[in-house]
Amino acid sequence: MNAFAESPLLALIVDDLATQGWSHQCLMLPADLTAALAGECRARAAAGDLAPAAVGRGEGQRIREGVRGDLIQWLEPGQSAASDAYLVLMDELRQRLNRELYLGLEDFECHFALYPPGAFYQKHLDRFHDDDRRAVSVVAYLNADWQPEQGGALRLHLAEGERDILPEGGGVVLFLSGELPHEVLPASRQRLSLAGWFRRRA
Ligand code: OGA
Ligand code: MN
Repeated sequence: MNAFAESPLLALIVDDLATQGWSHQCLMLPADLTAALAGECRARAAAGDLAPAAVGRGEGQRIREGVRGDLIQWLEPGQSAASDAYLVLMDELRQRLNRELYLGLEDFECHFALYPPGAFYQKHLDRFHDDDRRAVSVVAYLNADWQPEQGGALRLHLAEGERDILPEGGGVVLFLSGELPHEVLPASRQRLSLAGWFRRRA
């Protein structure tokens, strides 16, 4: 057991997901891990490893800048100490969600995302028409000192109205992938995150 697995925040997340289908924890990631992941995202971008994200999957995949303007790269185990540490934390969270909410989450897929200034992601659901394995979305934010006037909020379209969440480093948002429409608003500065999905069996 480590500090993350015992963090009281995990109980809050479980509670939030069960009662309202989403959760935002402002200070979820350790500061040193957030900084290391931000550095890695910038290094991958500088090396030209991030590519325009596509919409849809398989043969239906298209790059459509009118829908989403982020650059992404998927994480694989063994790429760096920081990304491996993040995958370990997410696996502990996955096991906790399975134990307490019986979600039957089998694996986790995740990519770095860099939104250049002005880029956005239109309102959408994180589930494909032909593949409903994505059950819980997890977005971790990596920018330090985000100011409200810089924009870039994640806008959740909840039944009771809109809720904007600023992408402040160390914060993590989780929500039920198939149920909560959301969008990314344009920002005046570069916006860095890790977007991931816990998936069920096919
Ligand atoms: C996504 C997404 C939200 C965010 O990548 O599907 O909705 O705040 N990201 O970056
Ligand atoms: Mn999404």
